[in-house]
Amino acid sequence: MQKSSYRHFEKYTHGKTGCTILDIGTGTGEYIKFIAKNNHYILTDIDSKSLKKAENRARKYLKNGSWDVKVGDASSVVATEKVDIISCLHAISSLYNPNEFVSLALDSLNQGGELLIYIGYPSKKKVSIFYSFLMRIFKLKPVNIEKILYSFKFSQEKISLFNYCYTVRK
Ligand SMILES: C[S@@+](CC[C@H](N)C(=O)[O-])C[C@H]1O[C@@H](n2cnc3c(N)ncnc32)[C@H](O)[C@@H]1O
Repeated sequence: MQKSSYRHFEKYTHGKTGCTILDIGTGTGEYIKFIAKNNHYILTDIDSKSLKKAENRARKYLKNGSWDVKVGDASSVVATEKVDIISCLHAISSLYNPNEFVSLALDSLNQGGELLIYIGYPSKKKVSIFYSFLMRIFKLKPVNIEKILYSFKFSQEKISLFNYCYTVRK
């Protein structure tokens, strides 16, 4: 399900040069292997164990590139950085306060910068219908997250059957 997001993000990074990209909730950094080397990446996650794996990947695949790692909560991390691009792949629904995160992230962007948020939905049709049903009944994420993103005027791009990329430019 997340593969299409990784491919989309890969393509996006290859269209950029010399940008500082702050990635929120990198996890083990499966996509590090594919991202363009000619940007500076700040890989972050609240989970230090996962981030250690991401660091090993960065050491291997971004050998001639520029990168850094930072353990911490998304809101605290964005509040201390000034960057060109902020990415968040399949992590926003795990955050304590997505609304606060988006607001702080927009403050942290340089003028003309972009915030990219990837959200995935189950790819199997039956699972997806059941999932959407539960989301509507209990008003759970990511339906509520979509509402937040619309309120910040994000534009939505469908990148595969149940995978979306939301972007907003500062
Ligand atoms: C589903 S994983 C996505 C990992 C990766 N971005 C990907 O797409 O493969 C969600 C990640 O968000 C991280 N996370 C959860 N809460 C967080 C928080 N408050 N601040 C930063 N990262 C958080 C988790 O540790 C986890 O690595």
